[in-house]
Amino acid sequence: MGKEIRIFSPATVANVACGFDVLGFCLDTIGDEMVIKQTKEKGIKITKIEGYDLPYEVEKNVAGVSALAMYNDLKPDCGFEIKIYKNIKPGSGIGSSSASAAGSVYGMNELLGRPLDKTKLTYYAMKGEALASQCEHADNLAPAIFGGFTLVKSACPLQILELPTPSDLYATLIHPQIEIKTAESRALLPKEIPLNNAITQWANVGSLVHALHTSDYNLIKEALIDIVIEPYRKQLIPHFDAVKSAVMETGALGCAISGSGPSIFALSKSEVTAKAVQSTMGDIYSKTDIEFETYVSNINTQGIKIL
Ligand code: HSE
Repeated sequence: MGKEIRIFSPATVANVACGFDVLGFCLDTIGDEMVIKQTKEKGIKITKIEGYDLPYEVEKNVAGVSALAMYNDLKPDCGFEIKIYKNIKPGSGIGSSSASAAGSVYGMNELLGRPLDKTKLTYYAMKGEALASQCEHADNLAPAIFGGFTLVKSACPLQILELPTPSDLYATLIHPQIEIKTAESRALLPKEIPLNNAITQWANVGSLVHALHTSDYNLIKEALIDIVIEPYRKQLIPHFDAVKSAVMETGALGCAISGSGPSIFALSKSEVTAKAVQSTMGDIYSKTDIEFETYVSNINTQGIKIL
């Protein structure tokens, strides 16, 4: 009793252009830290939140909701205190709520001697994620918990496939400092799509999965296209088209909205190209009055971890 662990809970990119609600990958250089402590006193408490202003009430905090869901099922003979050191801005489109939701259940599972596998952890984390986005999607949670690229084959029953990561692949991100709420960005989307668009989109998802398995960078480039979601959401992101076309000219393999935005991600073959893409993104936003941050990251194949 009294044991505690500090964990790194990474940021993630959901959708990966063509794979709305099913594909995602894990970032390495951006993430939250959380400390989870086992206590004699039963129940879940959030005792510290630094970085952003988020609720301490367990039922109103995504980390608390996922922790409670797991706690109520496992009924361990102890309690847990959660400290959250938030680096990922809520509403940034790089899996801020997922990092919190995954962190609490991962930490508790470690302290309890790992009774649950990664799919079950994702299942409980989805309960917290649903508080933020009004929908139980796992495309940020799966890469945060499994690492690398993941595909959510089914949300109910939950089935997650781990996909390989080509070794020269690097991600670049720009985060314009505006907030887009996932629930609002989902509300913009049509309930039905034309069959022709569906055919193109699922051909791209299949091609991307094949390209990741074969490290075929040309095919990655051809597949990183989203004709279903991007046309609706890009209007929420200032200068999206300008960033995308400049980034492609700089040599990226693809560029699309990260999750529900406003962050924009690009994938490149080599760190050198990823850094050139970072400058290109920064050049465009420097000419505007919108503050922004940019990042370059390798693909984090480990996922969430103990520090
Ligand atoms: N797949 C989700 C969406 C991810 O695009 O709404 C949210 O981060």
